[in-house]
Amino acid sequence: MNSIAKRLSHKVLEIKTTYKPKTPVSVLCVADVHFDNKNCKIRLLKKHMDEALDNDRLMFFCGDTFCLMQGPGDPRRSSADRHDQDNSDAYVNSVLSRAWDFFGPYAHNIAGMSYGNHETTYIKKNGIDVLELFIDGLNDKCGSNVQRMPFEGWIHHSLESKHKGRASCFKTYFHHGAGGGGPVTKGVIKTNRRNAIVDGADFLISGHIHESFIIETPKIYTTRRGNELTRNVLHVQLPTYKDEHIKEEEYFNYHTISERSPRPLGGWWLNIEASFSGGNTDFKHSATRAQ
Ligand SMILES: [Fe+2]
Repeated sequence: MNSIAKRLSHKVLEIKTTYKPKTPVSVLCVADVHFDNKNCKIRLLKKHMDEALDNDRLMFFCGDTFCLMQGPGDPRRSSADRHDQDNSDAYVNSVLSRAWDFFGPYAHNIAGMSYGNHETTYIKKNGIDVLELFIDGLNDKCGSNVQRMPFEGWIHHSLESKHKGRASCFKTYFHHGAGGGGPVTKGVIKTNRRNAIVDGADFLISGHIHESFIIETPKIYTTRRGNELTRNVLHVQLPTYKDEHIKEEEYFNYHTISERSPRPLGGWWLNIEASFSGGNTDFKHSATRAQ
């Protein structure tokens, strides 16, 4: 593989890539997969993960990979959300077994998975860290090195060429997200709050609110020599793979009773590309939708 993921510290994951001209370095970022929910669009997820695999790219899962609402005694338990194969009393065992089967072929392309509120709530209520069990089991079974990341942290995208002296590091700040987002503003207000807290990020990614957008907030700074430069900061809101909009055979469901809108599905690719002119190498970054 052209990219190698390595843990730099508790909160920082480094993805090191030897770049080639005109070939973007891309990482698939997804959140709120809700793998074990019946409404998870698993074929869409598989399509995106296959694309990563076929193009030798890494993936990052930004929380709520698991839904975990169908355990015994959970008041949110519902046959509309429960996957048919998770109907046994040993609910977590069933979820883990299916997840290892599904994610196994992709394990070597998954750089990391971080926590979301569904995984942390399950720990609080049941004393079981499903994400830890899943990642440890996956790495054991596949000989992979998927990193279990905290609720928030960083990805350093380190790019190096085969010719020494041309290197760059782009930084992604990630946080699963919190709060309701807002039916009208759709979470855009939070980009300014994050701008006030996070310094030095090129990408800021988050999930949780099941919305999808990209907002650019360019920032100006000066170099030691007195040149003013601009750093473009991209806020990427990751959507979901859980389709909760009312189905043809349904008369109502929780999502519809609450008058919630259909949600965008899929993920985003974070891209970094190098271009050469006059002996200089310029790097630019962008994000494109996986849908
Ligand atoms: Fe969430």
